[in-house]
Amino acid sequence: MPTFGKEEIRNLAQVIKSGRFCDKRGGFMDQFRRDFARDLQAKHAITAGSAMLLMHAIPGAIGAGAGDEIIVDPVVQFHAIACLHNNIVPVWADVRPDDFLMDPASVEKRITKRTRAIWVTHLWGFPAAVDKLRRIADKHGIYLLEDCAHALLAKYKGKYVGNWGHIGTFSFNMGKQLPTGEGGMAITNDDRLAAELNRRIIFGESPEVLSSNYRMTEFQAAVGVAQLKKVPGYLKIYREGRKILDEAIADCAWLDRRKELPGSVVAPYNWACLFHGERRKISRAIFQAALHQAGGYFGMGFTQQPGYLYEIFRKPNAYGNKGCPYNCHLYKGKVDWKKGLCPVAEDVIPRLVATNNMQPLTVIRAQARVLRKVIRLAESGQVAPLTYSPVEKKILEIVKRRGPLEAMEVITHFDQRRLGHYDEHSMLVIMESLRDRFPLKLSHAGPRKFAFHDLSG
Ligand SMILES: Cc1ncc(COP(=O)(O)O)c(C=O)c1O
Repeated sequence: MPTFGKEEIRNLAQVIKSGRFCDKRGGFMDQFRRDFARDLQAKHAITAGSAMLLMHAIPGAIGAGAGDEIIVDPVVQFHAIACLHNNIVPVWADVRPDDFLMDPASVEKRITKRTRAIWVTHLWGFPAAVDKLRRIADKHGIYLLEDCAHALLAKYKGKYVGNWGHIGTFSFNMGKQLPTGEGGMAITNDDRLAAELNRRIIFGESPEVLSSNYRMTEFQAAVGVAQLKKVPGYLKIYREGRKILDEAIADCAWLDRRKELPGSVVAPYNWACLFHGERRKISRAIFQAALHQAGGYFGMGFTQQPGYLYEIFRKPNAYGNKGCPYNCHLYKGKVDWKKGLCPVAEDVIPRLVATNNMQPLTVIRAQARVLRKVIRLAESGQVAPLTYSPVEKKILEIVKRRGPLEAMEVITHFDQRRLGHYDEHSMLVIMESLRDRFPLKLSHAGPRKFAFHDLSG
């Protein structure tokens, strides 16, 4: 939904004409950091090539590493991956059932003498209980880190998210509220942490600390400066869109609205509700068949299961495939990631019905009509349960054997094996729809490829 126009083009042309495409004094990056810090009411803003790069550098900046633990929430896995990259054990806390955000009561139970930080995600633009999380962090002398990738200009109790913790990070990839292609920003109100983080992302020939080149380019900042001014206008539309979608399920006894905490100003990202078909004897397979029949863009079950049940966390494969960080001799805890660890997340994730909230209102109104139709269809009892079609089975088999693959690569396999010819768009639509299936499913592996998962174990 973001729009790009005269100002972005003018800024980009200015960068080209300047002949300096990297961070330079008085350039767009200086302005982007200054404007961002001003708008978010933070003391420091630090640019990087992506949010993941900042998240990779943050544990070093807070002095965390091998032998340490960081508490994370299990619905998304970005921060937990950043932990593995730092040889840190991610420890999973459960979420609250009505907003799917980190539950402070569960966090308290997970704290050990090895805990260095709590890393919370403001999932899909809803602020988490950062006041309580900050109190817990302060009580134990550890850091609170905020992943605000979905929550630009979201507020909690009058304060922008990203400012409640010691460091907050934002993403500017193309799917975000402020897109610059790729890009990330960290905010902090702590001078020492700002310096420590900067030291790790501004790389030179003989760095004083282990660092790397995580820098943003002037091109991204040139777009970012223009987009930042537009975000409040986008959010107005997204908030209206959220209301329209909430209203579409208001009378449905088996789809529950996502509730924000009192004191929240939500920055909508994905809209979601919770499927409780058991209240009306509507199975998940029937509901998914109704979703397919109604033809909208709703995903079901998101990642289908919490992060800790994925192989990458059960059997980490970095550092020479020796099982680090769990097997690191400096780690004195015990890891046993299995079903039952976060019962609320395990129950809630497969129930998530979600769609992109960042759309023009015409698209959102069409989505609301689809939702109403889905409710009617599912309640009518005249929908056959969804199963894997022969084409879907073949795609899953090919991606399992050869993957991760792009849609075009799957098409080539289909052509070679004479399984039928598909154009790229049709193949993409089928592969996208296989992302919310269970137990065999696909997931995004980067912006173009799809990976295979068998979640039946
Ligand atoms: C919650 C969350 N955190 C972090 C990231 C990483 O952001 P980036 O793509 O800028 O590295 C994403 C990306 O989608 C995200 O959704």
